[in-house]
Amino acid sequence: MSVYSVMLQDTVGVITGAASGIGKAAVTRYALAGARTIYATDIEESELQEVAEGVTHEHPGIKVIGVRMDVAKSEEVEALVRRIVKESGRLDWFFANAGIVDVEAFNKTTVEQMVGERRLTRRVQPANCSSLYTSFKTHMFTVNTIGVFNCITWAARGMINTSEDKPRSGGSIVVTTSLASTFGGIGAPAYTTSKHATLGLLRSAAAQLMLARTGIRVNGVAPGPTRTQIGLHAMQSGAMSESARKALIDKGPKIEQAMMDAVAPPEEIADVAVFLSSRMSAGINGQNIATDRGLRE
Ligand code: NAI
Repeated sequence: MSVYSVMLQDTVGVITGAASGIGKAAVTRYALAGARTIYATDIEESELQEVAEGVTHEHPGIKVIGVRMDVAKSEEVEALVRRIVKESGRLDWFFANAGIVDVEAFNKTTVEQMVGERRLTRRVQPANCSSLYTSFKTHMFTVNTIGVFNCITWAARGMINTSEDKPRSGGSIVVTTSLASTFGGIGAPAYTTSKHATLGLLRSAAAQLMLARTGIRVNGVAPGPTRTQIGLHAMQSGAMSESARKALIDKGPKIEQAMMDAVAPPEEIADVAVFLSSRMSAGINGQNIATDRGLRE
């Protein structure tokens, strides 16, 4: 038995944005790490149920429960946490991963893009690179920042409530930030601003929860370009960092394939989230772990 397979043995937790990309990969990786029950959540219900059924089928000992939940709605996150406390009696980790991207020049960015109404367009398979999220405009702050605020707030309450040793409950909250949480990036000001704010939020929550002696840790995993719908859309739309672009430039006409090859598979990000969710990272709190293969600016 490998260490990996017992890292999360007998634990219960939540993954948001679990219908695709990093969240989808995380459902499998958390199952491989021995989690007892995984609440896999997303707004895309049918894709989510497919993921939940697929992983349950592959890992018969693990319970994967698909739940439709919009992270931007505090009452939905609250309802899920209350349900977990009732159903499972514990909440050990919470992977707040759901997020959205919008690539736009600074002088074309509007306030609506940051905090306005949702205007989702159709989703297509990552293989069909040219038509990904073609006119995707939505509220970056509401999902990327307020969504994470909702997750941290309710996750912490759930972890404290299920503790047998109050108030020293322990538990781990992991947030998918981005390299855009610490670097300027190109062409995605609304996204970059929301991710910088998310990092501030997680650092503040980590400090507060530590000072309150809850034993709850809050950390971030900061992906570089990753092979998902968001990753491909960002790269195609010109939001890739200069060094990442240089690393790929000699690939000539096969640039699209080179991008696919060079960017990280989502499992690499999910594995860091597993580590941060487990007791193996007990000494890490308030950190933002760059997971970018060195492709930073
Ligand atoms: P993805 O588009 O494949 O997955 C994002 C998932 O979040 C989707 O299933 C979507 O339905 C869900 N989602 C969107 N809004 C939601 C809401 N309001 N409530 C619940 N779920 C919602 O993209 P990916 O790459 O897997 O994104 C995961 C995280 O990784 C995001 O936070 C993103 O910002 C971050 N990230 C991704 C990078 C990349 O290159 N792919 C780079 C840096 C950060």
